[in-house]
Amino acid sequence: MITINPFSALSENIPALVPQAFIIFMVVLVILGTLIDIIHKKNVKYFFNNAKKAKKSATRELGVGEKTSIIAKTIVYDIGTTSELGAGKRRVAHLLGMYGTILFWIASAVMIFCYSSPSSNTPSVWPIVWHIGAIMTVIGGCWFWFFLRVDVYSEGQPWYRIIKADLFVLALIATSLFGLIWSYLQSLALNDRWDDKVFLVLYAVSNIILFGGVYWSKFAHMFYKPGAAIQKNLAEADGSRDNLPPPADKPEQFGLGIKREAPKHY
Ligand code: HEM
Repeated sequence: MITINPFSALSENIPALVPQAFIIFMVVLVILGTLIDIIHKKNVKYFFNNAKKAKKSATRELGVGEKTSIIAKTIVYDIGTTSELGAGKRRVAHLLGMYGTILFWIASAVMIFCYSSPSSNTPSVWPIVWHIGAIMTVIGGCWFWFFLRVDVYSEGQPWYRIIKADLFVLALIATSLFGLIWSYLQSLALNDRWDDKVFLVLYAVSNIILFGGVYWSKFAHMFYKPGAAIQKNLAEADGSRDNLPPPADKPEQFGLGIKREAPKHY
């Protein structure tokens, strides 16, 4: 199953144009959802006004070379390794989910646009990347949702409590999990069975929820977080520090604080 392109087998029953149009529709949904989110929350307007205000208190001007190097370092380290999450399980789970999703999406687009006719000879690397990406997303997403999300980990809520904030992570897990099950059932080539079709529909519906739910979910953090990380590092380098006070000249002495034990007493 892992070396079979599920979209190529699908094109025996559904024209290749249908999944291609589906992807374009999903991209349009993401753009619309993010734009409506930006207009409604005014977060990007606030972000740029704040950056403009902070620039006035810059203590030095950054050259193009220095700016480029800061942005490149931020992309490779802060964004590429989600450094914001510190060391530990939370970061490992996020990296699994983030890279799993990126691999899954890239492989989906390549197989759907380049190798989706029944006669296509898909290089086996693409189905392998697609399946491994989906497995990584399911593992990272489930690890986060069952064990690490704050309302369960720290606030003592039962694991089965579902709130609006879970829309993104649950839809993400659902797309990968239903995709995997559909691919497995379809690879069995049980022509008189209907169960692969059920999972194909669930796969499509969960994608519509994931990409159509951008306005209500945390989907857009994957665009906002990198922007904020770049701005933070530029503001640190030009001395404006986002209008925050300079660091104290004495070492911090706050005792162990929250490092004394994990926060589990809410
Ligand atoms: C394809 C890209 C990405 C995917 C699939 C992804 C996935 C996720 C998921 C599923 C969550 C849990 C959401 C929840 O609270 O329910 C999350 C949270 C988070 N993400 Fe991402 N993410 C991506 C990109 C990024 C990037 C680029 C950054 C930062 C530079 C980032 C930083 C964070 C942070 C700080 C959290 C909060 C984690 C926590 O509450 O423990 N993510 N992400």
